[in-house]
Amino acid sequence: MEGINFNQIGVSFKGSGSYVPDQILTNSKISQKVDTSNEWIKSRTGISERRISSLGDNVTEMGYKAALTAIEMANWDIKTIDLIVLATSTPNDLFGSAPSIQAKLGAANAVAFDLTAACSGFLFALISASQFLKGGGGFKRAIVIGADQLSSFVDWNDRGSCILFGDGAGALAIEATNEFDNLIGFDMRTDGERGSFLNLPSKNTKGSIIDNIDFLSGAFSPIQMNGQEVYKFAVREVPIILEKLLKKMNYTSDKVDWLVLHQANQRILDSVGERLKIPGEKILSNLEKYGNTSAATIPLVIDEAIRNNRIKQNDIIATSGFGAGLSWGAALIKWG
Ligand code: UT7
Repeated sequence: MEGINFNQIGVSFKGSGSYVPDQILTNSKISQKVDTSNEWIKSRTGISERRISSLGDNVTEMGYKAALTAIEMANWDIKTIDLIVLATSTPNDLFGSAPSIQAKLGAANAVAFDLTAACSGFLFALISASQFLKGGGGFKRAIVIGADQLSSFVDWNDRGSCILFGDGAGALAIEATNEFDNLIGFDMRTDGERGSFLNLPSKNTKGSIIDNIDFLSGAFSPIQMNGQEVYKFAVREVPIILEKLLKKMNYTSDKVDWLVLHQANQRILDSVGERLKIPGEKILSNLEKYGNTSAATIPLVIDEAIRNNRIKQNDIIATSGFGAGLSWGAALIKWG
């Protein structure tokens, strides 16, 4: 953490990266497992296929590969990275997977830790890392990673949820600046009262250590989701938080170049775009190929758009993550 500069007033966006496992699970293959069809999944969600981790594709591996490509785009010496924040709900080590990504990268001067906020995780991690960069504590360069392996926690017999999720990772490289702030504004919310709509709860079975002293062995139940309630929550809250943020920052939706929403369901993307009067060609979507990769969706779709020359320097991105918690958030970004 060299080069402490108390004038760091903002962040700039320097690079992006992503990684998805090779294994492809198509809708028609899912229909061999549960009572569903390609037509039903495609028309209700927009998803055609998703990637599924196999051995060797855990959150550390996927996050590492996404981070490395972001660092290459930023053209950074890895030793200059001060901070690595990994948003994930599915670490391959419950004590945290970020330090193992740090070790694989060889980012010896960074501090690395996990942050959990389900599908809002990447946005919450980006905002948190930005506060470190602006906070005067000497943090100058950060890698923010979203990586999840929900396929390990999906109930593959529940057709109401198993069709949605896939695995992957994305990362952004951000740097402190003393001239401007390209994280123009943000907002974050949670509502634990509605938390039961989407859970990945612990499932403890009672064991005995010695006579009269019990312990609860650690394990998790598969994802439990009330799809209709999560859908209603998303189409109601996401436009509200984005509209408020745009207003607060004196922006109108016609100034937005790209609407980047958590990739949950194409119908949610369309509905939010309609409400904000942002046309379809400005709404980034890749859920047809990857489904809902939880904390990874936002950096994954941003990275794809940057590498396809869609997002360009100085483009304005309105982004929103939402999901379990319930949690949701929004950020207004200028790329570059
Ligand atoms: O990061 C956040 C993660 N979660 C979400 O984003 C979830 C948001 N919710 C959704 O995307 C949608 O609610 C789903 C795609 C999960 C479900 O779509 P829906 O249009 O809300 O369907 P529904 O739950 O209202 O079910 C309608 C019908 C039901 O049959 P009946 O009772 O009308 O006979 C379901 O049993 O569709 C049936 N159904 C299916 N049929 C074929 C539910 N899942 C399936 C399926 N294939 N996979």
